[in-house]
Amino acid sequence: MNSAEIRKRWLDFFESGNRQGLNHAVVPSASLILNDPNLLLVNAGMVPFKPYFLGELPPPYPRATSVQKCVRTLDIDEVGKTTRHASFFQMCGNFSFGDYFKEGAISLAWELLTRSQSDGGFGFDPARLWVTVYLDDDEAADIWHKQVGVPKDRIQRRGMADNFWSMGVPGPCGPCSEIYFDRGPEYGRDGGPVADEDRYLEIWNLVFMQNLRGDGPGKEGYPILGELPAKNIDTGLGLERTAALLQGVDNIYEIDTTSIILRKASELTGVAYGLEEKSDVSLRVIADHARTAAMLIGDGVTPGNEGRGYVLRRMMRRVVRNMRILGSAEPTLVELIKSSIEAMSPQYPELRSDRERIEAVTANEEGTFLETLRSGTNIFDLAAESMKKSGAKVLPATDLFMLHDTYGFPFDLTLEMATEKGLAVDEAGFRQLMREQKERAKADAKAKKSGHTDLSEYRKILESGKSSEFIGYQSTSGEASILAIVSDGQSVQG
Ligand code: SER
Repeated sequence: MNSAEIRKRWLDFFESGNRQGLNHAVVPSASLILNDPNLLLVNAGMVPFKPYFLGELPPPYPRATSVQKCVRTLDIDEVGKTTRHASFFQMCGNFSFGDYFKEGAISLAWELLTRSQSDGGFGFDPARLWVTVYLDDDEAADIWHKQVGVPKDRIQRRGMADNFWSMGVPGPCGPCSEIYFDRGPEYGRDGGPVADEDRYLEIWNLVFMQNLRGDGPGKEGYPILGELPAKNIDTGLGLERTAALLQGVDNIYEIDTTSIILRKASELTGVAYGLEEKSDVSLRVIADHARTAAMLIGDGVTPGNEGRGYVLRRMMRRVVRNMRILGSAEPTLVELIKSSIEAMSPQYPELRSDRERIEAVTANEEGTFLETLRSGTNIFDLAAESMKKSGAKVLPATDLFMLHDTYGFPFDLTLEMATEKGLAVDEAGFRQLMREQKERAKADAKAKKSGHTDLSEYRKILESGKSSEFIGYQSTSGEASILAIVSDGQSVQG
């Protein structure tokens, strides 16, 4: 079953409702950029509905369903290495705002998952489904066992880190119940989701959204501030994971949509997929990140050094780096973005109409980065070479800082390259230099605000008949001669 069909079955099921009174409003995916001061990017299907859960706005409908674009970068280092981590994914959701609660959510989920494919469902074998519930949630455990008929030994209880869901920031939250599919003993140990989450793949999370959380670290260390105005439902089924299971492929990078990009990366590098783990990981990272980049640019993010812009820049740079690891030093990002548009435009046609802009943003960013890479890699190689000669094993903080600060070379890439060469890095020293630089910048900004800048030397240079022309709007490089050197407001001899 292809991804478009999964999406269609999902929306049809919840729109028509399988019983009277359960018709859900079909809400199109929101942009990845939503105006939420706590969130860089939409990371769950429920985000656009947050004001209704919190009681800030009256919900326009009591029940809704959507297939929402999501980006999560917390687990970026897992991408490509496991079968199930993606930086971009689509979350199929059904939501109740003070309408049905645990019983409704559980029975609907079970029905769609196990209904036969010829009857519009997903046709999962009920004997291979496992569920988890929050530690003290007897009510959910009872519904699963007594009403749905899941045997007790396939219902497991887990603590807050696994079975209490929040957005990771203050907002709505609640205990949850997750549904897992057993992929079989060839994928890992017996014992259910608590024993092995690769073998038992989580496909659907049902959140009983009833509490408000405060600020605090991690998945367990935050305070629960109280109850929400109503008891709500927020569920999320991973479209890509479901596709992997229904398409009988090993992981989410090999499903119909992602494999188009993966094949393109393989074609461009001449490296076949499936030969060895190391190059497979690179190909999967490329496919995942290129698609995320296309979706982010499509929604109006431009590469930059902060916030969303940095998320995008990092994705694009990791694609370029991995293409280089596979032996392709030529500009290829635009080709990969074209494949991503091809893969995703059946579901998001706006990508096709906006393709010129998306490709132009990509070409520009890749050009700048290839230039940065060339100079940064040379400097890194020189430093590594001299370490080899001296027998040192730790790349000094000053070199790390220079690469980052003077050459704009991303620190995470320096780390990756050091690991590849078997070198350690003085990360603590680097962080210290970064802190000192921040302090200097702060002090400098303060001095500029409060102090008086002496411009007389610059005036003298201009008055001597020398002039300069700014060409930065037309080109990024050019010939120039140094007219004078000014240090601390004084002219100095070069
Ligand atoms: N919000 C929950 C999640 O992201 C369920 O949709 O897992």
